[in-house]
Amino acid sequence: MKIESHYELSDLIKPEETFCKKANIQNNDLYEKANHNRLDFWEEQANQLNWDQPWDSVLDWKKPNAKWFVNGKLNATTNCLDRHLTTHRKHKKAIIWESETGQKQTLTYEQLHKKVCQLANYLSQTLGIKKGDRITLYMPLTPELAISVLACARIGAIHSVVFAGFSANSLQDRLNDSESKCIITTDIAVRRGSEINLKEIVDEALEKVTSVKDVIIHKRTNKTINWVSNRDHNFDEAINQSSTTHKPESMDSEDPLFILYTSGTTGKPKGIIHTTGGYLTHAQYSTKVVFDIKDDDLYWCTADIGWITGHTYLVYGPLLNGATVFMYEGTPDYPNTGIFWDLIERYSISIFYTAPTAIRAFMKAGESIPEQYNLSSLRLLGSVGEPINPEAWNWYYTHIGQKKCPIVDTWWQTETGGIMITTLPGLHDMKPGSAGKPLPGIQAQCLQDDGTTIHSGGGLLSLTEPWPSMARGIWGDQERFNEVYWSKFETYFAGDGAVKDKDDYFTVIGRVDDVLNVAGHRIGTMEVESSLVDCPKVAEAAVVGIEDTIKGQAIIAFVILKEGISESANLEQELKQFVATKISPIAKPKTIIITPDLPKTRSGKIMRRLLKQAANNEILGDTTSLANPQIMNTIRDILQSNI
Ligand code: WT7
Repeated sequence: MKIESHYELSDLIKPEETFCKKANIQNNDLYEKANHNRLDFWEEQANQLNWDQPWDSVLDWKKPNAKWFVNGKLNATTNCLDRHLTTHRKHKKAIIWESETGQKQTLTYEQLHKKVCQLANYLSQTLGIKKGDRITLYMPLTPELAISVLACARIGAIHSVVFAGFSANSLQDRLNDSESKCIITTDIAVRRGSEINLKEIVDEALEKVTSVKDVIIHKRTNKTINWVSNRDHNFDEAINQSSTTHKPESMDSEDPLFILYTSGTTGKPKGIIHTTGGYLTHAQYSTKVVFDIKDDDLYWCTADIGWITGHTYLVYGPLLNGATVFMYEGTPDYPNTGIFWDLIERYSISIFYTAPTAIRAFMKAGESIPEQYNLSSLRLLGSVGEPINPEAWNWYYTHIGQKKCPIVDTWWQTETGGIMITTLPGLHDMKPGSAGKPLPGIQAQCLQDDGTTIHSGGGLLSLTEPWPSMARGIWGDQERFNEVYWSKFETYFAGDGAVKDKDDYFTVIGRVDDVLNVAGHRIGTMEVESSLVDCPKVAEAAVVGIEDTIKGQAIIAFVILKEGISESANLEQELKQFVATKISPIAKPKTIIITPDLPKTRSGKIMRRLLKQAANNEILGDTTSLANPQIMNTIRDILQSNI
């Protein structure tokens, strides 16, 4: 496969001198230290945390199994909370929150600590939850979700946050896979003006789950909801009746901190496991150097806690650094496309981290919208989730950052736990469209298919040395972990294609496998396909991505109907809705193409590559291995009349 960048990369852009002079990182010392001795470097970063017991050795590496800070002991929440209480940060705001409906809540470090201790006491003393037990969190982006995450970490329970946009079906799969004992949820979520009854979805999901014994519900409205006695507990009552002091569980550095489900190429979503010491080390370090966090910053990451970005850069990273985090439960386009700029102006937000899909939507709405707001409090911008095209980069730089804020384009994954490749904002020149260099302590290379290193040019992106926040496994399936990430090369294979240029900057092109990236969300083609064939009307389905100007990629589903089922006006709508209900609205295909057959090899494998080329209006590659080459003409004809 040939990997090349379609971008015309412009000249390097220098960050403003005023920014550089005050930046946390102003020279190459960290790179030099890390290059001189990587393990000493990571040890120094780990030493920025408070440990109950020091480690015996920095790394024990038997590919693909890493143990970082071996035998060290610590608790995530003493580092996120307790240690700030003896400093000026005791009364500093930890979380400032606003909802779509304008509800507001602020918690100081002291107040957050109290609530976390109270919930921790309830979980361990009242419900009997123990270290290592799994707790699923299915909540909208509220302070109560952050409190729940931290309460789990305090008692050593492994949290599994499931994004509140997932369906009952998806939630059920994740509850069963993790064998969660408890689920914490909310009565409703609010999204674009409408209410979603989360508790109802939980009740439906629990119909086929045996592991869950207790459900804690954060009630934000007075609505009457279904209540199962001996199982359901009220979140506020649980907190209010519990003590505000709690002795944190001392965790081994390698004890799991959380599981987070993400999509892969095949089969069901993978429960990615992150452990305690290494993950926290990288979360603290990367937040400090990449976001240049200072005590007087107001930092806003627009991601939901349901994704890895929310875990690392909305909860753990900022709190470890004693920062003030702004959380907003709402979308960028409701009630209007000025809402984010309005929030930045009202709260004087200084650091803003969002996704290219949002930036492209803002761009489409036009710069006359941000121009109506005072954005002068901003000093640093970030991007994550998918490649940012130079046009969107320049728009963000000019119209949001007023050409004075550096942009960090951060490449990483659920599996990497934290940022791997980016420019450092006060040190490096920026290249719109290109993420930049591996962080100090991280090694990356572009590899050829046979594993040889490409020094300049396009190849498959690999992280070539272990790092502290690397995934330790897939919950319940170590073999799959080895197979997916560690069997292609000797080193970690990220699944992305990238180009390394003469300045050693990496431009990440996107996935080279069957994983789609729709609006920054990873969706496996297999997941959508298997939900479609679950539909009684569908015989077979193949799903591919097409380029989409706002979302990066959009989903096209090719569907063969069952014998006797005929096309009808609302069939397409019905199938789309079917996927939305089975997985989540984020996985809904943009277009459904009904076809009499799919391109298959003689052994019966669907050639998605050809469907993708046809859907993207590209020249078809080799069709000689097809058992039914004539089908591609039919499919082209159908496509022409559909898209
Ligand atoms: C995939 C990981 C990392 C948190 C959000 C997504 C793509 C992510 C970038 C970027 C180009 C990017 C990659 C990666 N991706 N950031 N700055 N430039 N591509 O986490 O759901 O685990 O997805 O997102 O394809 O493999 P995720």
